[in-house]
Amino acid sequence: MNKFTLTLLFFVVAIPAGWCQIQITHNPYLQALHDTGVTIVWTTDKDAIGWVELAPDDGTHFYKQERPKYFASSHGFKNVSTLHKVTLRGLTPGTTYRYRVYAQEVTSHIGTKVTYGNIVATRVYRQEPLAFTTSQPGQQQVSFAVINDIHGRNDVMKNLLGQLDWPTTDLVFFNGDMADNLLTETQLFAHYMDTATALFASETPMYYARGNHETRGNFAFRFPDYFPTTSGHLYYLFRRGPVCFVVLDCGEDKPDSDIEYSGIVDMDAYRTQQAEWLEDALKQPEYRDAPYKVVICHMPPFGGWHGEEDIAAKFVPLLNAAGAQVMLSGHLHRHIKREAEPGAHAFPVLVNSNNNMLRVTADNERLHIDVVDQAGKVVDTLTLQPSR
Ligand SMILES: [Fe+2]
Repeated sequence: MNKFTLTLLFFVVAIPAGWCQIQITHNPYLQALHDTGVTIVWTTDKDAIGWVELAPDDGTHFYKQERPKYFASSHGFKNVSTLHKVTLRGLTPGTTYRYRVYAQEVTSHIGTKVTYGNIVATRVYRQEPLAFTTSQPGQQQVSFAVINDIHGRNDVMKNLLGQLDWPTTDLVFFNGDMADNLLTETQLFAHYMDTATALFASETPMYYARGNHETRGNFAFRFPDYFPTTSGHLYYLFRRGPVCFVVLDCGEDKPDSDIEYSGIVDMDAYRTQQAEWLEDALKQPEYRDAPYKVVICHMPPFGGWHGEEDIAAKFVPLLNAAGAQVMLSGHLHRHIKREAEPGAHAFPVLVNSNNNMLRVTADNERLHIDVVDQAGKVVDTLTLQPSR
């Protein structure tokens, strides 16, 4: 045994127990919140089982009593992973819940014997527990914001979202291209999700319309694992207050055979499959009965590139026939407001720039969009009347 090995051995033996304490690497954020449920997502640095403890918003201390546990599990097993997702079901609509996330390291699983390590949890002692509020059917108004094309610029995201009054903001949309590409979990969080979680996403729900840049990179195929939806797809439809949101997944902008995609994308067939879903979804009462019908789609149905033209061909005729009232897009990195165009889209298309935010309120009288810049100046507006 040489001197180096002896030194290394001493170092390993001398590691204090706390050195190996499991850590929450990325704090919890809300996904797919609806009237009776929500999915809470967070990560740890070691493989672990994860669970959420839930408490009513009744003024009691979180430590008053043992709180019910809801585990991250599938097929009857608690999941052992560094990515934890707990879907809460059967909640009461329009109700605030406080929550705490936990993870306990699984150090080995041999035969039928499972060995557990330390536990980590979000804090509830020196700071208030995290909380969320389920949506309420029949809610008369809604307030939301849309940002897009952040491309990893955390400072721009802070300038935009920092303007919002969170207690009166019901939800936020990320309308694509929040990063240049997806390479690792660390990069995904560093480029935007850690900032989003710190600003709002632990307590205000975020809904994602994937952009074309989120389809790029060797980690892109993991995107659905981090951003679950109620439909199980990256395209979905949901009602919030007087608005029905139709969230579409635009796919890539160039033909599938383009050299940039290295032969790994199949977006034309994906958009066809999505159009089949859309045709049926637009017949549902959730959509038909909504006073406002808002489409969220990262790429607009114009611009002349293949993906845009495929959206115009496959999605827009269905949306036209179903009375969609506006499409909110991004992708082009500049502000464009196009009114309805005969023979094309029968609704206005608002392309938000990469440096602005859409701040929207809707009630029984009108849906009003302010386009605001990073300084908070309103640079354009759009107002819709209810469709019935
Ligand atoms: Fe884009």
